[in-house]
Amino acid sequence: MSATQPVNIVSAEFKANPFPFLNRLRASDPVYPTTLPDKTVVWLLTRYDDVTALLRDERFTKNRRNALTKEQLRKLPWTPPMFRPLERNMLDLDPPDHTRLRSLVHKAFTPSLVEQMRSRTQAIADELLDRVVSAGEMDLIRDFALPLPMTIITEILGVPAKDHGKFHRWSQAVVSLTSPTPTLRVIPSVWKFIRYLRKFFKLRGRDPQDDLVSALIKTEEAGDRLNEDELLAMIFLLLIAGHETTVNLIGNGTLALLENPNQMRKLQREPSLVKPAVEELLRYTSPVFTTSERYALENAMVHGVTIPRGEMTLGVIGSANRDETVFENPNELRITREPNRHLSFGQGIHFCLGAPLARMEAQLAFTTLSRRLPDLRLKNSPHTLRWRPSIFLRGLTALPVKF
Ligand code: HEM
Repeated sequence: MSATQPVNIVSAEFKANPFPFLNRLRASDPVYPTTLPDKTVVWLLTRYDDVTALLRDERFTKNRRNALTKEQLRKLPWTPPMFRPLERNMLDLDPPDHTRLRSLVHKAFTPSLVEQMRSRTQAIADELLDRVVSAGEMDLIRDFALPLPMTIITEILGVPAKDHGKFHRWSQAVVSLTSPTPTLRVIPSVWKFIRYLRKFFKLRGRDPQDDLVSALIKTEEAGDRLNEDELLAMIFLLLIAGHETTVNLIGNGTLALLENPNQMRKLQREPSLVKPAVEELLRYTSPVFTTSERYALENAMVHGVTIPRGEMTLGVIGSANRDETVFENPNELRITREPNRHLSFGQGIHFCLGAPLARMEAQLAFTTLSRRLPDLRLKNSPHTLRWRPSIFLRGLTALPVKF
């Protein structure tokens, strides 16, 4: 029996300060079952070594259909047929499907593509600040942290600039699908989004441009290509993973620097520290707070506790990144921390494909903010800040600042 009082890990209240609870789990309940608001049971692994082991453990699968018993499969909520291609995204698949899809996208999503976006990222960061600088205040999430990665990922994909607005609206609806219970409310947006993308693929198929969608249509690996449903699932994944995460790194990271003014001043004095600073902000704020779900293929024993077959298991990255057996003074933000073996981009075969892009965007975002707005400060008391309810992510709904 666990001595720990249950909490709702999806709630905004939990996300505001999850660390005392996670410290208790690491100390005395390292394999902890909890229940989501929709009654799904989730097993939380909170120690660094257990999270890294989970990401490489062949007793666990990403594709829940491989793990569930007939009885569990029957109880799965009905998925509208139009959403089914989206289940074929590589983050939710195991080898050999995952290997095949990852090698196809790997050929198109190259380090040189990220380098090509560097000067454009700088220009967008400057443009976004130009728009607000005379006002002396902004919502850092709405005006900077969100539009920066959103613009970059849509430009990489090749979506026409005039369509960015609706693309963003629809993607917000899709993002709400990552909550445990998708609602009927999002179906019209998802349907429009899928129709738009299918039309767009036809256009690029006929008239390829210098963008990722055209490259993915053409990409071949040993005579193998992505079919249209796989392309759809891939673009969804890239779009969502490409901005819903980085927004939290820039938002949470800025808050962490504002709450640790000595570290903020250090970065302002020595901008060359931005690389280790971004690694430390990744560790300290864990923008993707848990791994995506894994499912035990058979009953799996961890520290003497049995995780039953087919039940959802999450590695809590935000806890592993504060594990005192790995990080010295883990609750202290130290932008020069070295070594810094954080797990913020995961590990193993699903290691974040976009890590080089996210690092480049965040490094430019923080140097630009500290150069152009040196007296940045919170507009209101930190207690008024609200966190987004989410299973996997940890991020602010808004971050009002003055300068
Ligand atoms: C701060 C920003 C980011 C963080 C913290 C982050 C974090 C992660 C994590 C933890 C995983 C592994 C999940 C798991 O194993 O369950 C992952 C996978 C992935 N990420 Fe990121 N990510 C970020 C930005 C991006 C960007 C900018 C892109 C793309 C443009 C991206 C694309 C992906 C993809 C495609 C996967 C799945 C890889 C696979 O299944 O092989 N991510 N990310």
